[in-house]
Amino acid sequence: MRRGIILAGGSGSRLAPLTLAVSKQLLPVYDKPMIYYSLTTLMLAGVREVLIVTNPHDETAFRRLLGDGARLGLRIEYKPQASPDGIAQALILGEEFLDGADSVVVLGDNIFFGAGFADLLQRASGRAAGATVFGYSVVDPQRYGVVEIGPDGKALSIEEKPLKPRSRHAVTGLYFYDGRAPAIARSLKPSARGELEITDVNRVYLDAGDLTVERLGRGYAWFDTGTHDSLMEAAEYVRAIELRQGFRIGCVEEVAFQMGFIDADQLRALAGEAPKTGYHRYLRQLADGEI
Ligand code: TTP
Repeated sequence: MRRGIILAGGSGSRLAPLTLAVSKQLLPVYDKPMIYYSLTTLMLAGVREVLIVTNPHDETAFRRLLGDGARLGLRIEYKPQASPDGIAQALILGEEFLDGADSVVVLGDNIFFGAGFADLLQRASGRAAGATVFGYSVVDPQRYGVVEIGPDGKALSIEEKPLKPRSRHAVTGLYFYDGRAPAIARSLKPSARGELEITDVNRVYLDAGDLTVERLGRGYAWFDTGTHDSLMEAAEYVRAIELRQGFRIGCVEEVAFQMGFIDADQLRALAGEAPKTGYHRYLRQLADGEI
């Protein structure tokens, strides 16, 4: 069974002063904490065992929010990262938790939304060997990791913040790996900025011809909520869809129910925890089949 890792550490320096006392991934994105969105991404991929990597001083707050995951039919563990030494370090910190299993790594500040996303995730999850990343067309690829995609869907090249990008496809913060990933991460040297780079992990798979790219087409929304403006944009997007359609984005209880991790009675019990809020009323309506 594939296991998940959420990167919820980092310094969040671009969001200061919001992040001076509160972890970035606990900040609100409209009506729920940011980490709900990445957690639901993992859940839609069928993942039930999750490791949350946090800054040491923020672990308690994440535990208060999500506990051991049992109420969502999950098993959640926590791992402190002493200092933000790179995204690929999470694979090393998570090596024991993964215990040789295939993994999905998601950045805790990334939000994905679009019809058919769960199918795409499950297709990536079903690929037993190699790695899968997700390419998203952007107008400013030079700000991102950029992947060039071959006709067979395999990556041809991958470059970090290139001056002359070979494609418009940014690599999003969601990565599927086979059981080799922790050993690959351990073999890396820190980059010029002193971090273990996830792009370097991906390059090892690329060189072996084992890096698949799934394209997130124009019907998808992808936000990285690392700046004040992108955080606000993501919140406005979530608000617009939720108010218009009456469905919620990133609702962990709903996804747990949809995926069969909890049943209607368990969902009803969760709804009963705060019956007066709109969020909990929504859970009740889901449990009662009204939505
Ligand atoms: P970034 O957005 O690259 O970095 P950051 O969150 O530290 O923010 P800033 O650049 O404003 O200082 O990180 C992407 C995600 O990965 C984010 O959710 C934080 C997380 N992260 C870790 O958990 N550990 C790390 O060592 C790094 C570099 C990032």
